[in-house]
Amino acid sequence: MLKFNYKYMNNQNQKPRILTGDRPTGPLHIGHYFGALKDRVELQDKYDTFVIIADVQALTDNFLTPKKVRDNVKEVVMDNLAVGIDPKKSTIFIQSMIPEIAELTVFYSNLVTVARLERNPTTKEELKQKEKLFKNNITYGFLGYPVSQAADITAFQADLVPAGEDQVPHIELAREIVRKFNEIYGETLVEPKAKISAFPRVKGLDGNSKMGKSLNNAIYLSDSPDIIRQKVKMAFTDPQKIRLTDIGHPDNCMVYYYHQMFTDSNDLKVVESECRTGARGCVACKNQLADNIIKFLAPIQEKRHYYESHPEIVDQIIKEGTAKAREVAKETLRQVKEKMFLNY
Ligand code: TRP
Repeated sequence: MLKFNYKYMNNQNQKPRILTGDRPTGPLHIGHYFGALKDRVELQDKYDTFVIIADVQALTDNFLTPKKVRDNVKEVVMDNLAVGIDPKKSTIFIQSMIPEIAELTVFYSNLVTVARLERNPTTKEELKQKEKLFKNNITYGFLGYPVSQAADITAFQADLVPAGEDQVPHIELAREIVRKFNEIYGETLVEPKAKISAFPRVKGLDGNSKMGKSLNNAIYLSDSPDIIRQKVKMAFTDPQKIRLTDIGHPDNCMVYYYHQMFTDSNDLKVVESECRTGARGCVACKNQLADNIIKFLAPIQEKRHYYESHPEIVDQIIKEGTAKAREVAKETLRQVKEKMFLNY
């Protein structure tokens, strides 16, 4: 059982608080679902959940294409609603509409060294993928986005941050900032804990260790049945299995990999043994997988279609969520500024 710092919890309903969220850089895919959204939906009953649509953070590596970020804000909100985030239980808000987060970021910047930011393994990894954008010249904003993320988390005095494994270095930095702030200016901020998804990172259709938009190897929650069939057809399979009767190696096949996620255990045993003995071909195996993915996504897509055809409801959810989030962040900022003698 996790222990929470109830003394500093400033939410009235006394449930411990969660802050989590996504960058609006594209529609969410099944990697997001298993890595984060599934947990998020389950946790919203027990926690006072805040979901950030991190548009400011998205701009740190999409500053050349701000319209793309804007266009994806509502998409990501709809993805969250479609998987079961309930606006009655969870507060969905837009980062750029909470200027208190930007103010906190400035104050926290004094508590973090440049060397500390340069050591962050997640930033380093992302930088490799962004070679074209940054070349060898990383921006101040990109290097510093984990500081801004610490502001996202602490603005809400969050106790828990459910996230994928790649977020651990950022949450660790947030914890360090909190400790330092409290030590220098006096107890003010809640030290957040990471809650890492039990599900490991979902691999891409091509076998790449990461599923991602830029890698073109993702199945999106909003993909139509036709697109899903097309994508599954192109998935990486055991190169040694060419003819139907060839013996297959499920461990070297992305189709089997996804069967493990979408196919019930009895059918899965059949898939595995028929592949190993050469009793099934990859085409049939792919069709079965595509059927199961389509079936799995159907209720999610049904919900998404409802919101797509009622954009005014989505706008209202964002508006109300952001207003509520702002109140919470304002109170944190008030306390922070008081401690820093900035309460003019
Ligand atoms: N960095 C997260 C991602 O890339 C998004 C994010 C922004 C976030 N602020 C956050 C996640 C605060 C958890 C808490 O997916």
